Amino acid sequence: MDFNQEIDRRHSESIKWNHFAEDVLPMWVADTDFRSPEAVIRALHERVDHGVFGYGAPPKELDQTVLQRLKRLYNWDVQASQIGYIPGVVTGFNAAIRSFCAPGEAVIYQTPAYPPFISAPDSAKLQGVQNPLVQGQDGRFYLDFERFEEQIISENVRAFILCNPQNPTGRVFTREELTQLAEICIRHNVLIISDEIHCDILYDDRKHIPIASLSPEVAANTITFMAPSKTYNIAGLHASVYIVQNPGLKEKLQTFCNGLIGNPGVLSLTAALAAYAEGDEWLADQNRYLQANRDFLDGALRTHLTGIHWSKPEATFLGWLDCSELGLAEPPYEFFLREARVGLNDGITFGPQYGDFVRINFGTTRANLQKAIDRMQAALAAR
Ligand SMILES: Cc1ncc(COP(=O)(O)O)c(C=O)c1O
Repeated sequence: MDFNQEIDRRHSESIKWNHFAEDVLPMWVADTDFRSPEAVIRALHERVDHGVFGYGAPPKELDQTVLQRLKRLYNWDVQASQIGYIPGVVTGFNAAIRSFCAPGEAVIYQTPAYPPFISAPDSAKLQGVQNPLVQGQDGRFYLDFERFEEQIISENVRAFILCNPQNPTGRVFTREELTQLAEICIRHNVLIISDEIHCDILYDDRKHIPIASLSPEVAANTITFMAPSKTYNIAGLHASVYIVQNPGLKEKLQTFCNGLIGNPGVLSLTAALAAYAEGDEWLADQNRYLQANRDFLDGALRTHLTGIHWSKPEATFLGWLDCSELGLAEPPYEFFLREARVGLNDGITFGPQYGDFVRINFGTTRANLQKAIDRMQAALAAR
């Protein structure tokens, strides 16, 4: 697979490539510009050639592939009756808080936060509680456990949406960190809704730990979401997996979804199965390419884009860029859009205190990444 291949997405229905004006290089929404594994494309061709697209159910083979993957990667024993499929992870965590929380209760999450974390409690008429990550001397983002527990107690928190690996900071939480979070949640009867959509794209030989795999007690208090969508660039097909090992919780979630949220479509299930069953080698290649992109950008931040800082992401193809030192008279998002013609994510959409940040998506060809860096550097030099 040639990850340097430039593919025209502007003339597809891509959100990423059609949101901004034509001369803007889009480095925002979290999909990559890579072609999916050939196994996925072949499986879709074969399914299309079958020519009949009546109602479909998730194949048993997909269940087995998912379960074996959880065992192989995380030594996590899950039964077929404990998993299900849903079109999207955002749909999933919105359904989870709505099925579980009662009016007047609150949902906590860490900031900076993936924007749908912020809107989920608001649109469910629940209270959202923001627990900011704290930047250490080393620039890394750390959990503030003390404040987390205090907020849970004082704000009537009933559910916690965890993002691990974390979008947008790229943190991969350690076993110790996850254990501490889980202990606090269990102590105060707070449901853990764990968004692990970025769990397959980790760097420097890091290993993902699903929070629910920590212990049976944590598993009984957790709803986990994973998906092949970011991993294999099939987000537009809409197939995600949920894992709920507490039968009561699973029933609650399913009852809420009944009649509202169906299974992914037959083509989505076909793609998901092919990706999970045959995509390992492609994924390893992609992660090597992405890690090199990350390091390339890291080098550029030290040499060409001085004044912009980041904590080198440990996972995800997203970078959280602190532009406060540039001293721009306007939000960096606006500056880089107008002056560099580079479309980033505006930090303020990740929490009100992050207006000096932008998020960059480096899940693109090296040539595009280089172009974005050059344009940003030129815009800064011309100030
Ligand atoms: C943390 C996180 N969760 C969920 C999603 C989207 O999930 P889905 O497309 O399955 O709704 C994204 C996409 O950027 C994400 O970063």
